Amino acid sequence: MHHLVAPSLLAADFLHLAEEVDMVNESEADLFHVDVMDGHFVPNISFGFSIIRQIKSLAKKPLDVHLMIKHPDQYLEDFRDSGADWLSVHYETCPHLHRTIHKIRELGMKPGVVINPHNNVELLKGILHDVDFVLLMSVNPGFGGQKFIPSTLERIRTLNKMKIELNPELLIEVDGGVDEHNAADLVNAGADILVAGSSVFKASDPLKAISSLKQAI
Ligand code: DX5
Ligand code: ZN
Repeated sequence: MHHLVAPSLLAADFLHLAEEVDMVNESEADLFHVDVMDGHFVPNISFGFSIIRQIKSLAKKPLDVHLMIKHPDQYLEDFRDSGADWLSVHYETCPHLHRTIHKIRELGMKPGVVINPHNNVELLKGILHDVDFVLLMSVNPGFGGQKFIPSTLERIRTLNKMKIELNPELLIEVDGGVDEHNAADLVNAGADILVAGSSVFKASDPLKAISSLKQAI
């Protein structure tokens, strides 16, 4: 499978959000990555339902909504109703992860689990069979524009081995500090989806930036 590219709207210009969404619609990108932050699980607040609904009204590609919030269970239905197609929750926020993941699927979304850089991917062994994708954080979540953590490559390789054994359909997504310089290494290590915020939206030519991420191999 050719890998997917998911531009993260966190880095978009919110005064021109419609143009930014249109740019992604017309690009080679596959998904919209949508970062929700609550100021509790992560030290930053991003945006919520009404913005997601507006993005959804223009988006021609699925919304991959990444929840960086405490108590995600309270809001799963609201995110579905706002237009989330893929919904991922952090391992670190879900004491009853199996229940949460199954609830997301019952609501009609693709469930994913996200894991912070300090946590070993082996912790996900028991849930790999139930999720459609794992989102590996390659920075500490909360902010765009941070530096890629190099040990992520080894984590992708380890997860890829687990995937072959436990759920060959699983998609591995990587988020944080992804750019045209590390994209090929990530894909070669086993990444199926590259999230990119700053390297797309802060580029002088975002379409070209998306294209080079898409071509990385
Ligand atoms: C960080 C978010 C990322 C962020 C990535 O907490 O989960 O999706 O937007 O931004 P860049 O690509 O700039 O590191
Ligand atoms: Zn994200």
